[in-house]
Amino acid sequence: MTLLTENIVAQAESTHRLNEEELVTLLQDDSCNDIVFQAADRVRQKYMGNAVHLRGLIEFTNICRQNCCYCGLRRENSKVDRYRLDEDTIVSVAQKAQQYGYKTVVLQGGEDPYYTVERMVYILKRIKALGVAITLSLGERSRDEYRAFKEAGADRFLLRIETTDQALYEKLDPGMSWNNRIRCLKDLKELGFEAGTGCLVGLPGQSIQSLARDILFFKEFNADMIGVGPFIPNADTPLKDAPSANFWLSVKVMALTRLLCGNINIPATTAMETIHPNGRIIALQAGANVVMPNVSDGEYRKKYLLYPGKAMVDMTPVESRDKIVDKIVTIGRTIGTDCGFRPQNRL
Ligand code: 5AD
Ligand code: SF4
Repeated sequence: MTLLTENIVAQAESTHRLNEEELVTLLQDDSCNDIVFQAADRVRQKYMGNAVHLRGLIEFTNICRQNCCYCGLRRENSKVDRYRLDEDTIVSVAQKAQQYGYKTVVLQGGEDPYYTVERMVYILKRIKALGVAITLSLGERSRDEYRAFKEAGADRFLLRIETTDQALYEKLDPGMSWNNRIRCLKDLKELGFEAGTGCLVGLPGQSIQSLARDILFFKEFNADMIGVGPFIPNADTPLKDAPSANFWLSVKVMALTRLLCGNINIPATTAMETIHPNGRIIALQAGANVVMPNVSDGEYRKKYLLYPGKAMVDMTPVESRDKIVDKIVTIGRTIGTDCGFRPQNRL
């Protein structure tokens, strides 16, 4: 750690502003990791408080019309045992989530055309009647569809940009358009969703500069939530031989996002737990304030494999919640009792 890196971290903590070059300096220097993580932890405490918000994650379909090169659910992967939950099952899982104490349910799935706007509106209205906040994560749709979801009760939407390097994005997500992804994110924001995005760290061909630009994009877009996850190669995808991401680099991208964006929601991601046995707790102590335990049951948990070795697939929904709650309490944090929306003021 040098005086230069210490000064950059201090500046980030007090002004929440850094330029690309300063971000690159911190991303390249492993010796500053601890001071970055500690500063991110203080910024999290200052704007978001001590509580960790739990969101109940329902992986409702692993069918996807897209073909992202990193993802196990890509349409050309014939080794996946595909499933989709019908409308009533989704509502009953959401009801269970509410009974387990979750204040938010997250409906996450591949881009599955079965879930037409009519079906989604029906599902959303019924879940909304349970009195929970609803987050959607089901990919690219038209503005009109997003509007219908919002009017039916969805509060938030997660759509990672994956990488702000347009050429890399379009290479790894064949057939998809980076500009359309940006269009989706803008529509979501304008329609009044809390808009979440995020990136993968350690994609083959991704540079440190590009990661710095991802962080600047999150701030510039004024994202309400940011999910950062390490890339983990999946044997049934074209990227099977690419190396796994560096865990500490992905934690650092997340911590720097906290330093620059201040008062947003940041999950400790399952991918972090998958490549490090204590990944989520490390993330919670380096800027994260949200955890999304899976509320799906056994059979389906094992089938939603974006990447191999996914943490906690063998647990029941109650076990996975209790395990993380125990750990959260042990590090002196509390469990959020409200829906955990983003505080209103932009920094
Ligand atoms: N490793 C890590 N994360 C992945 N995702 C998809 N495939 C992988 C992988 N191999 C992430 C993407 C997507 C999110 C739902 O899962 O970032 O947006
Ligand atoms: Fe489908 Fe999402 Fe996987 Fe891409 S990352 S293949 S859109 S589930």
